[in-house]
Amino acid sequence: MVLNKLQETVTYIRTKTSAKPKVGVVLGSGLGAFVKDVQIECTLPYKDIPHFSPPTVEGHSGNLIFGKIDNQSIAILQGRNHYYEGHSMESVVFPTRTLAMLGIETLILTNSAGGFGENMQAGDFMIIEDHINLMGTNPLMGPNIKELGPRFPDMTEAYDKRLISMMENLLLKQGTRFHKGVYCGVSGPTYETPSEVRYLKLIGGKAVGMSTVPETIAANHLGLRVAALSCITNLAAGVSTQKLSHSEVTETANRVESQFCSFLREFIPQI
Ligand code: HPA
Repeated sequence: MVLNKLQETVTYIRTKTSAKPKVGVVLGSGLGAFVKDVQIECTLPYKDIPHFSPPTVEGHSGNLIFGKIDNQSIAILQGRNHYYEGHSMESVVFPTRTLAMLGIETLILTNSAGGFGENMQAGDFMIIEDHINLMGTNPLMGPNIKELGPRFPDMTEAYDKRLISMMENLLLKQGTRFHKGVYCGVSGPTYETPSEVRYLKLIGGKAVGMSTVPETIAANHLGLRVAALSCITNLAAGVSTQKLSHSEVTETANRVESQFCSFLREFIPQI
């Protein structure tokens, strides 16, 4: 089933472009502006792509964009589907699998997250070194699709070590405030309670968000290298006395947009 759908999707995309992207980029909430730095070759709205679902969240556009940064061929998912929107895990990871079928070897995931690491401030970045899946499910549940990958994928190095050190060097060079740590993936759509955030800290997390984990799992299954960067748009619940809101999340993401864009602009050609 999934394989047939992927084939239909790829067939449609191939009627629109012959692009051979090597790197895929997923842009998270409020981080979609990066596309202005790309030499765009083709833009496909999700609503026109078979088996893609248009996003329902404010701050997310829904476009699959093919283009170049310097000489690097990339495919950008501008906006993603979240599990909390009611999408099945299969449809959450469908775009990731599509990019793999189009030939990408590396996937860059970006997101907005609540931070609770030492010395974190809203507007900092966090390189994701590892994750804890707390979504209560896994996108690989069900019969394994052996054409996509193995039944029991190894997750020892879910986030590629070489890409982590490249990101670190670049953020240092750019003078951008950043952390490295474990991302806790939750289902949402509620933000966490302060007790939940204390729990996430106890189990070794530094940031929490409602995305990224499914795509990382699907990408590892597919044998892709993954790099992931969180924008800490807010301190997690209970870390500051302030209440959380989606507008704070998008405002912070917009505030650090230029740092974020210059990071991706320099990082992508190095891959
Ligand atoms: N919690 C969960 N997801 C988020 C947060 C948060 O505090 N901020 C942005 N995405």
